[in-house]
Amino acid sequence: MLGVIGGSGLYEVDGVEVLEEVEVKTPWGEPSDKYILTQIEGKKVVFLPRHGRGHKFPPHLINFRANLWGFRKLGVNKILSVSAVGGINPLLKAGDFVLSNQFLDFTKSRQSTFYEGIYSKFDEEDTKNDLVNQYLKDKRVVHIDVSEPFCPQLQKSLQNTLGKLGYNYLSNATYAATEGPRLETAAEIKALSTLGADIVGMTLVPEIVLARELAMHFVSLSVVTNLAAGISKDRLTSDEVIEMMKQRNEDLKEVILDFAKNLPDTYSCECEKVLEGAAI
Ligand code: HPA
Repeated sequence: MLGVIGGSGLYEVDGVEVLEEVEVKTPWGEPSDKYILTQIEGKKVVFLPRHGRGHKFPPHLINFRANLWGFRKLGVNKILSVSAVGGINPLLKAGDFVLSNQFLDFTKSRQSTFYEGIYSKFDEEDTKNDLVNQYLKDKRVVHIDVSEPFCPQLQKSLQNTLGKLGYNYLSNATYAATEGPRLETAAEIKALSTLGADIVGMTLVPEIVLARELAMHFVSLSVVTNLAAGISKDRLTSDEVIEMMKQRNEDLKEVILDFAKNLPDTYSCECEKVLEGAAI
């Protein structure tokens, strides 16, 4: 089943039938909000607003572990993560769509693993007999491979959707994840650019890492809401971020709907195997 993490409002769309809203409890605490269970052409899709409805949680205080575990409990094994980012690559302008295939992690204070060795928690309500539960139960230490953190098949699918609908996008981008909630200095953006970052945002990490720890397929669709600090001539504001996400909302809905309808049936990527041999 597909899970979509994004801004609120994305599920209020023609063609999306809302079945119910569910609250999920996890040993890692509360997810950002209730999950919205929907049906798109007979396929179930679960939505979650990353920051909670009303944007309650700043990026560094989002309970990413609870969010991802909640998806797992509902049967989600593929994630489409929608986010706002600043543009660093000179080819980018505000409003552009970007698909990443790498990340650089500059976050500082986040819980970025489920596998905490002797401190590991276990969800008694989750009866799946898989490596995730085995590793948690056995209190193993796990180092997952993130050489290619994004699902190549979902990336291809998303590219097909964007191409078919006539949208321009930059693909194979590197997303630099910063801690926030402050924006970056011009010097930080210059440094990130030198390191190869195309875009900058505050939410991809640890979201993608935790999804991968649960052996899920993960793809990210970013909207450039502003040019990053020092590239933009103007002071950056949250107003422009919100305004640009609003402007692209209808397009995002169109993309999500088409993507959800055309998910691959089978997967030959490594995403589901990433836990094999990963524990000590
Ligand atoms: N920096 C970090 N995160 C962001 C930005 C930015 O410029 N724009 C939207 N999210």
